[in-house]
Amino acid sequence: MSNRVEIFEAGPRDGLQNEKRMISAAEKIALIDLLSQAGFRRIEVASFVSPKWVPQMADGAEVLAGMTRVRGVSYAALTPNLRGYEGARAAKVDEVSVFASASEGFSRANLNATIAESLERFGPVLKAAKDDGIPVRGYVSCVTDCPFDGPVPPGDVARVVGWLRGAGCYEVSLGDTIGQGTPETVDAMLDAALNEWDAAHLAGHFHDTNGRALENVDAALARGLRVFDACVGGLGGCPYAPGAAGNVATEAVLAHVEGLGFQTGLDAGVIADAAQMARGMRPH
Ligand code: HMG
Ligand code: MG
Repeated sequence: MSNRVEIFEAGPRDGLQNEKRMISAAEKIALIDLLSQAGFRRIEVASFVSPKWVPQMADGAEVLAGMTRVRGVSYAALTPNLRGYEGARAAKVDEVSVFASASEGFSRANLNATIAESLERFGPVLKAAKDDGIPVRGYVSCVTDCPFDGPVPPGDVARVVGWLRGAGCYEVSLGDTIGQGTPETVDAMLDAALNEWDAAHLAGHFHDTNGRALENVDAALARGLRVFDACVGGLGGCPYAPGAAGNVATEAVLAHVEGLGFQTGLDAGVIADAAQMARGMRPH
């Protein structure tokens, strides 16, 4: 099994979308430009969602226009519908993400749609992206617990993973949106998800509300997953998921997996500087 782990850096998106203070495009660009020097293959830099829903992400086009692209880095953005996809494409993102939920309660709160309706909306995004040659990543939120519906049956996660695979996503990231997962519930969820797709196509996205994200990373590593989403400085959360604290910190995942003997190709010094910059963006 591979001894490489990839950290998918989501700080400029998942990290900053939940901050109370409006963070300027210039500050976001400074963070992205620093992260671009750290060795990441993929960095999620923006969301092309409704500015009424997430005002913090309204300046995605400005951010993409102002940042310095580094060759070899794929710059990603969230796109909930065709309108978002078109904005992301015009801003010249390298890849987009569609994001679904395994639970109806969170789907309604985050997308104002049932799971089925949200998947229906993603269809045209996936088709347009395919025509344009733009890779699409899929997310499934609330893979173990939902802030509205409680524990989520693993089969419900597997069903959405199967849909995203069938619709053409190149990878699916499994989100413990509110950080309530345990190694046991993560393992049970993965047991079901792996019936739909192999570990090479799945990523772990663990929020750290209960301080168990690294244990959940270990549970996923044991199942063969080698891609983990993280945010420098441990910032973040979802404004539509009450109780969602920060994402697991990039620097913590990096130290953890390298301590286990995995290679990441990342520069810990640059990441430490970026983490300090990201933490400095919080209101004091
Ligand atoms: P809606 O209100 O049902 O849809 O929202 P609508 O079509 O009525 O649109 C409302 C307004 O937004 C309209 O403007 C639209 O034109 C506009 P108005 O006519 O009222 O002036 N609009 C847009 N504007 C810009 N870009 C767009 C866009 N679409 C509509 N793409 C909608 C439905 C999906 C738009 C909304 O629910 C939404 O934007 N949701 C996104 C919420 C979000 O970004 N959440 C955080 C990201 S997910 C997350 O963090 C979880 C993750 O990290 C994994 C994990 O942790 O589990 C990925
Ligand atoms: Mg998240």
